[in-house]
Amino acid sequence: MSGDSPMWLDSASATSEDWIARDAASVLNTYGTRPLTFERGAGSYLYDVNGTEYIDFLSGLAVTSLGHAHPDVARAISSQANTLLHTSNLFGTEPQVRVAERLIALLGRGKVFFSNSGAEANEAAIKFARAWGRAHGGPDRFHILTADRGFHGRTMGALAATGQPEKKERFMPMLEGMHSLPLDRPDQFLDRIGDETAAVLLELIRAEAGVLPLDVDFVQEVARRCADTETLLMVDEVQTGIGRTGAWFCAEHYGITPNVVTMAKALGNGMPIGATWVDDDVAGQILVGDHASTFGGQPLATAAAEAVLQVMARDGLPERAAEVGAMLQQQLLDLDGVESVRGRGMLIGVQLHDGVAATDVAAACRRSGLIVGPLSLSAVRVTPALNIPVAVLDEGVQRFERGLSSCLS
Ligand SMILES: Cc1ncc(COP(=O)(O)O)c(C=O)c1O
Repeated sequence: MSGDSPMWLDSASATSEDWIARDAASVLNTYGTRPLTFERGAGSYLYDVNGTEYIDFLSGLAVTSLGHAHPDVARAISSQANTLLHTSNLFGTEPQVRVAERLIALLGRGKVFFSNSGAEANEAAIKFARAWGRAHGGPDRFHILTADRGFHGRTMGALAATGQPEKKERFMPMLEGMHSLPLDRPDQFLDRIGDETAAVLLELIRAEAGVLPLDVDFVQEVARRCADTETLLMVDEVQTGIGRTGAWFCAEHYGITPNVVTMAKALGNGMPIGATWVDDDVAGQILVGDHASTFGGQPLATAAAEAVLQVMARDGLPERAAEVGAMLQQQLLDLDGVESVRGRGMLIGVQLHDGVAATDVAAACRRSGLIVGPLSLSAVRVTPALNIPVAVLDEGVQRFERGLSSCLS
């Protein structure tokens, strides 16, 4: 088990290229080559190990919605780290209870299960749906319907729910009873909701697939059919939730009342946390021992989440995301090389002109001092912090324009 020289000893003198090489040599290559190594962030700015400044239009994949090193979040984490880090879920802790209460105030009567990520929040939802289905229709009622191209995570249950076959191929067989259905024939989707369906799980804006919103009428019809057949309506708000789309939860835009809502990402502004809210009916079916997570809802993560929820409410950030997001979408749409803009609030997919590669645009933007993420071959994700100052946003759009124009022939 002996290794070569202990490279971590010479960190102080390592250059950016050293870090990239060490990253590639030591971290399993599931993310591809990482082009930059960041050292610190402040608000909507990121700084790499060379000290180069970037405006952050990615927010760590829609996570740092309050920007980097937000003072309230930093204070909450620091104070909690000096108070109590972990007790196990055999005991209660104050921040966990306060966050659960706040989420119930936002989503309605029910209960919250805490985990550490979006995939885990969905794993919990899948288990809760199975318990609920069994109680309401017997052991055959375990099927869960999801939408084609929706994304729900990489663990085996969440992956089975994901409607992107290319992500599943190498890991077959999938969990039984998970059905990702096409949306081109909505009536066929609706007809599948029946006696053996425990739940429908929807990502209302399919973010990872390219920021593709589901049709409002279709979703409302699904909600009606779920209510008629006593099927659970579960909404994956891992990316859309906590203000990102211009409402606390995207379900509000769709005028639906889900039975289960999953969330993660922005809830901790970078602290890993997932949460699964269930209504009282579902909560009533879950028994002691049905589910657990050693770290789920631990004090450090929930202290951060509590600060996030307080700042979001205090500063009116969901409302701001609606306003500033509409402005930003228009600014992006006006640029040469942009075909169309999709999304809601500050969850934005920018469709580029034919033949313009998203990875090239992301690389060119980095050279202009802006971080954006490719979403697909020809679309880019723009998800700035919800509190980004307008002047920084404008400067970011200018950097985007410079990056994009260098890719137009
Ligand atoms: C809608 C949605 N659900 C689930 C997940 C999985 O979350 P995580 O990566 O935290 O497991 C993601 C991640 O991008 C997501 O966007």
